Amino acid sequence: GKLQTSNTDPNTLEKDEGAVIRINGERKGAYRDQEGKLHIVDTTCTHVGCEVEWNSGERSWDCPCHGSRFTYTGDVIEGPAEKPLQKYDYTMIDNITSEDS
Ligand code: FES
Repeated sequence: GKLQTSNTDPNTLEKDEGAVIRINGERKGAYRDQEGKLHIVDTTCTHVGCEVEWNSGERSWDCPCHGSRFTYTGDVIEGPAEKPLQKYDYTMIDNITSEDS
């Protein structure tokens, strides 16, 4: 795993690397798995809407507010969140841009 980097072009993610990216200006979470497949989720926690952060050690999206955790595909590992993160099919997303912060 690698440290989280903001505003990364998902095409530059290496295998087993996750990051917060921008798609059409919106914050999304991206993780490229060992097979090279990208997994894109919304980074808005389904509890009360904090922004989840990539945990490279556990390959999870963790919420800093109340401790909810999600798999890289967005499913709930532990609450208080009950619903999965919204998931996106990468092949359906165009206009992917990287922004310098
Ligand atoms: Fe994420 Fe509460 S907003 S755990």
